[in-house]
Amino acid sequence: MNIITNLYRLIITINGKKKMSKKYTSVHYNEYLALDKILGAQNLRSAELGEPAHDEMFFIIVHQVYELWFKQIIHELKLVANTLSQDPVPEYQLGEALAKLTRVHEIQKLLIDQIKVLETLTPLDFLDFRNYLIPASGFQSFQFRKVEAMLGLPSQQRITYGNYDYKSPFNEDQQKELLELENSMSMFDILEKWLERTPFLKFNDFKFSEKYVEAVSNMTERERQAILDTEYITEKEKEGRIKMLDMQQEYIENAMDKEKHNEMIKNGEVRLSFKATKAALLINLYRDKPILRIPYSILDKIVEIDESFIMWRFRHSQMVLRMLGRKMGTGGSSGHGYLKKTADEHHIFRDLHNVSTLLIPRSELPELPKELEDSLGYIYKG
Ligand code: HEM
Repeated sequence: MNIITNLYRLIITINGKKKMSKKYTSVHYNEYLALDKILGAQNLRSAELGEPAHDEMFFIIVHQVYELWFKQIIHELKLVANTLSQDPVPEYQLGEALAKLTRVHEIQKLLIDQIKVLETLTPLDFLDFRNYLIPASGFQSFQFRKVEAMLGLPSQQRITYGNYDYKSPFNEDQQKELLELENSMSMFDILEKWLERTPFLKFNDFKFSEKYVEAVSNMTERERQAILDTEYITEKEKEGRIKMLDMQQEYIENAMDKEKHNEMIKNGEVRLSFKATKAALLINLYRDKPILRIPYSILDKIVEIDESFIMWRFRHSQMVLRMLGRKMGTGGSSGHGYLKKTADEHHIFRDLHNVSTLLIPRSELPELPKELEDSLGYIYKG
């Protein structure tokens, strides 16, 4: 074989084995990024159908950039879902899953910030081309619906308008794909199962929930005493505060009671299973233990992603109010009113946010048995 060919061969080594060899080929920036296609894809309806409107180019580009980022988010969520659905999840892959969730969250920050850029389009300039867009609407963003379904927004929780199924704007294949996503494991389900597999909830004689409820009741007792002993509030105020304290303790005890928790699931008050909730609480409370650090960061990132989604919905609905006032949307909804409701209701990981209700100060945490303490650390005991 000629020496030049050899020089141009790239040997890819995976796990120490030569897997394949690939020939270097050259590629031009333009071709690699398919720029002719991308830069040739801004077709102004206003130019085609009437008076060219200067700002329509901007409007198209903003939407296209969103769709490209949605594509990247889907790509990352697939990887995270595949990683976390393994039983057990190979430890070395957890860091990678966290890195990808962090990327999703950073992209979301751009998506929220981009609304400011969009708002340089004034309502009057928008009217120069808005009528050419009917019935095109964000309702028809297939990728947005995929992200919602992949994260785990249940179809029964969706706000609908005019009783339309959210899948109806899509073609048959797309509807099938969305239905399959709805019926397969979402990020919510995968995370729930992953949490349920968390070890340490029971460790020899140590039962986390029993010790935790004991700690809460000791803490409440001390708080009750402090209220009774203080001279700065009246007897009536003391009574009110003690009542609130008892309610808080009852809430926490109920959350740690399997039957009551399952009852709340049945009533639609919570969605996350009893075991997964306990695991999420344990991870949050003992997050300073090295072994729980990455699981905690993963939960925290999911909460941030959920929150950013809500923030985007809220910002988009406010932008729509400014742009359209009380006009209906090109997709036929009530516009701002509908969108604001979705910001309130299309909340996927509410139960992870609610874990904060159950948190107690570090100083009140039940002490862990020495053996368990050691298994949560990094120090090599060999
Ligand atoms: C001038 C700018 C915009 C206006 C006035 C606007 C208006 C609206 C309105 C009124 C709706 C409700 C559905 C309807 O009746 O049409 C909607 C939905 C939506 N829009 Fe926008 N939008 C704008 C920009 C964007 C951008 C840049 C994106 C990014 C992709 C976007 C994504 C969406 C999505 C995904 C929905 C569906 C939301 C849901 O059903 O939860 N919109 N938009």
